[in-house]
Amino acid sequence: MIRSLRGMNDILEDEYRRFEYFHTVACNVAARYGFHYIETPLLEETTLFKRSVGESSDIVGKEMYQFIDKGGNDVCLRPEGTAGVVRAFIQNKYDKKGGIYRFFYHGPMFRYERPQKGRLREFHQFGVESFGVGSVYEDASLIMMVRDIFDALGITYTLQLNSLGCSECMPPYRERLITFLDAHAQEICEDCRRRKATNPIRVLDCKNSHCQVLYADAPKLMTHLCSSCTQDFATLTSLLEGQHLAYTINTHLVRGLDYYSKTAFEFLSSDIGAQSAIAGGGRYDRLIEFLDGKPTPAVGFAIGVERLLELITLPEAIREGYYFGAMDTEALPLILTLGQQKRRREKVIIEYHAKSLKAHLKNADRVHARYCAVIGENELKQNAIWIKDLVNKEEKIVSIDSL
Ligand code: HAM
Repeated sequence: MIRSLRGMNDILEDEYRRFEYFHTVACNVAARYGFHYIETPLLEETTLFKRSVGESSDIVGKEMYQFIDKGGNDVCLRPEGTAGVVRAFIQNKYDKKGGIYRFFYHGPMFRYERPQKGRLREFHQFGVESFGVGSVYEDASLIMMVRDIFDALGITYTLQLNSLGCSECMPPYRERLITFLDAHAQEICEDCRRRKATNPIRVLDCKNSHCQVLYADAPKLMTHLCSSCTQDFATLTSLLEGQHLAYTINTHLVRGLDYYSKTAFEFLSSDIGAQSAIAGGGRYDRLIEFLDGKPTPAVGFAIGVERLLELITLPEAIREGYYFGAMDTEALPLILTLGQQKRRREKVIIEYHAKSLKAHLKNADRVHARYCAVIGENELKQNAIWIKDLVNKEEKIVSIDSL
């Protein structure tokens, strides 16, 4: 039997209904915040991700679905959505036009990670990217947007915040951190020794327990921010407090992608096991310029859809449309004709085998039909059809012409 690849799942039935429900809720919230849908290709030049997500990140270093296509181009299945949206933003010259642009997207992302519960190789994100607003009010708005989506879905979460500083305060902090790491060079793990050379700040979210104990005493960027970053972070926290949104500051929250500066945030759930991050995002004011666009402030987030699915309680399924069935094989052609007529305006499920009334009622209930319409021997003689309203529980026999 041919099976799907490891970490790549089919989305079926009840799970798909949750998926669809999540998208309806998230797209509605995005529209209310003035975001417009954008769709970018699943495949991009590998360079795009190397230059945005960063060569030193695990995503680019270890997890890319990268290959050479038939034309000899080095391409890659997108591991995340931001890079492609930024590429589209620059390619379509929005940066040159200036102004404010807000986009949202959803779709599959690909990371060659070790699959486990909540960690897939093909997974889905719902994300937003906002361009042209440098104010930290936008950061607060986006965080409130995630809150609105989770609240609408009945999902409980905690929120962690950090500031990753800017081009003024990050470089001196980086030096301080390197000095600290040099002093503990023999104690830190192999990965952290590598990170020290490529992107030292990433050591802070090392999962090695010995490193974690050590980094509790590492210099904190939060206490070395420049005055503008300090002010922005204070404004952000006071805006969230004003909106009664609880948060904790996690000075080790560095995110796994290199493009962030200033605000970084993550929403976590304690209800889904080890992979507890259900959304993450932050500000990336330098990325557009770094990808050869005109400097433009930007901020965004992405929600991991699969991690939410089991937390979503679906509203009770709405009964709609008709279920058509026959009790006699002879009536089947008529059932098909009537079903086809009704289908022009309503959802119709037709059963192609003659069955007992009890079996038809059971089927109609299973497919969430509002009406169960059945032709038996008597109805066929009278050119009529028996109909039961499965909500009001009323039943009647009507002539076929009046159906
Ligand atoms: P990220 O934190 O890498 O950020 O991913 C966002 C969310 O995607 C995570 O919080 C998690 O829920 C989900 N996720 C990530 N990897 C997997 C996986 N292997 N299996 C299942 N779910 C996963 C980004 O991707 C950024 N582009 C977010 C962003 C947008 N920042 C600014 N704008």
